[in-house]
Amino acid sequence: MTSLWWQTSAIYQIYPRSFQDTGDDGIGDLKGIERRLDYLAGLGVGAIWICPIYSSPMVDFGYDISDYCDVDPRFGTLADFDDLLGQAHRRGLKVLLDFVPNHSSDQHPWFVESCASRENQKRDWYIWHDPAADGGPPNNWISDFGGSAWEWDEVTGQYYYHAFLKQQPDLNWRHPGVQTAMYDVLRFWFDRGVDGFRIDVLWHLLKAADFPDNPPNPNYRPGMGDMHRLLQLHSTDQPEVHLIAAEMREIADSYGARGHGERVLIGEIYLPVDRLMHYYGGERPEMHLPFNFQLIDTPWRARSLAAVITGYEAALPPGGGPNWVLGNHDRPRVAAKRGQAQARVAAVLLLTLRGTPTLYYGDELGLSDVAIEPSQVQDPHELRQPGLALGRDPVRTPMPWDDSDNAGFTRAKPWLPLNDDWRTRNVMRMTEEPRSILMLYRRLLALRRDWPALSIGDFLLLKAEDEILIYARRHGSERLIVALNFGKRQHRLELPDWAHGSRLLLSTTEDAAPVETVAFLLRSNEAVVLEAR
Ligand code: GLC
Repeated sequence: MTSLWWQTSAIYQIYPRSFQDTGDDGIGDLKGIERRLDYLAGLGVGAIWICPIYSSPMVDFGYDISDYCDVDPRFGTLADFDDLLGQAHRRGLKVLLDFVPNHSSDQHPWFVESCASRENQKRDWYIWHDPAADGGPPNNWISDFGGSAWEWDEVTGQYYYHAFLKQQPDLNWRHPGVQTAMYDVLRFWFDRGVDGFRIDVLWHLLKAADFPDNPPNPNYRPGMGDMHRLLQLHSTDQPEVHLIAAEMREIADSYGARGHGERVLIGEIYLPVDRLMHYYGGERPEMHLPFNFQLIDTPWRARSLAAVITGYEAALPPGGGPNWVLGNHDRPRVAAKRGQAQARVAAVLLLTLRGTPTLYYGDELGLSDVAIEPSQVQDPHELRQPGLALGRDPVRTPMPWDDSDNAGFTRAKPWLPLNDDWRTRNVMRMTEEPRSILMLYRRLLALRRDWPALSIGDFLLLKAEDEILIYARRHGSERLIVALNFGKRQHRLELPDWAHGSRLLLSTTEDAAPVETVAFLLRSNEAVVLEAR
């Protein structure tokens, strides 16, 4: 079986506001991404996923879209996008966009029309309801950003539903007009040559048709954030969503089938593994890759991680593409959660597990969460529920490129502050240090390209004990062993019989011990990749 590009490539997530500014406004843009394509190709990733670049009032920084088929002027123009796409393709890089089908901006002409009157043709493109008997919201659903998910509209005397901000009204996916219009959006970008989409909050798309109250969450504790007071039983993950996901897949596949290159769909879905698996589809295929976020929250211990990996491997449907993620623009950075030494071990884990890895920009520099002064907070999540550490600004700070002013990110004031250590923690400096985490990422990505065992081989758990996790990746006659030390003690480890005489291919530490014939020493916080011969 031949493998497809999205199975063998690593994907690199770009938060466009923070990658590279060329317009001198402190905000990154498409021309900036284009300028950095050589860096990305040199890093060794095979695809980039760019968070929303569409016309937007930017209340949720692009996840509130007012025109799905245009580029926001802050990011550039459609022509800039076409240039970027062409330049990326020239370098062998695929380009994925972010598709945000669950909600539009309240400034989208569709919603403006929908609000005009109850009789308007677009009224039912959004979710409108009469008040409850007491005049309050139609049910108890809570927005993910806190507070009721229903907003009263004085003019037409009904509530509309918004799973996120009130400026992000949910589209009514039960309406055929919405389906057609949104499928046309996919085609618009596919026709331009986009290689795929990451689909925002896919499991939110359909809500129970009769809008019953959600049940209370028995595990809710104050401080978790308002949304966690209820279980989202009726407001998310409804069976009908799978029909929509299958239609989207059909559209994506129709391009591959016409010889226009295989396109990929990646679903953003935060659900337990058993429910996540449904999004691969059944008789009709759905997502190529339903995002697997488990590494973000699993306790950083060998047994817990092994349980997650083997549980996931066992749950995958036949032919289902596995994938792994350490962080994204919504979650704490891996270096903040695990510390600098373990961020290197995490890099080895991410890039040696079976499946497509997605890297979050800046993680290759060991960038950590950046403290944001209350006066500098931008994220609506933090602004609406301050003090609960829900804010996402700390993980969205500018990419530090060099040690010139503003780390080479902008000539203006950056929209969010830089990491304090940007004068040393930047691409230019770390490229000069052979042992930097950046160079580790490069070596790992090169290893993935050179060894099919890593990109398409099978996975075999060898040991999960104490602080140590060891597994093998095998393909044909290639057999690699990956050993990770999550702790501070060193361990002398025996090699299995078939791996006697192994050779060290990569280590996270400067002074990796030589491998003996039958054993090797794994130092504190070290991860290694060995070739069994
Ligand atoms: C997704 C995005 C997040 C956004 C939300 C609403 O979870 O990743 O950044 O705020 O959807 O669109």
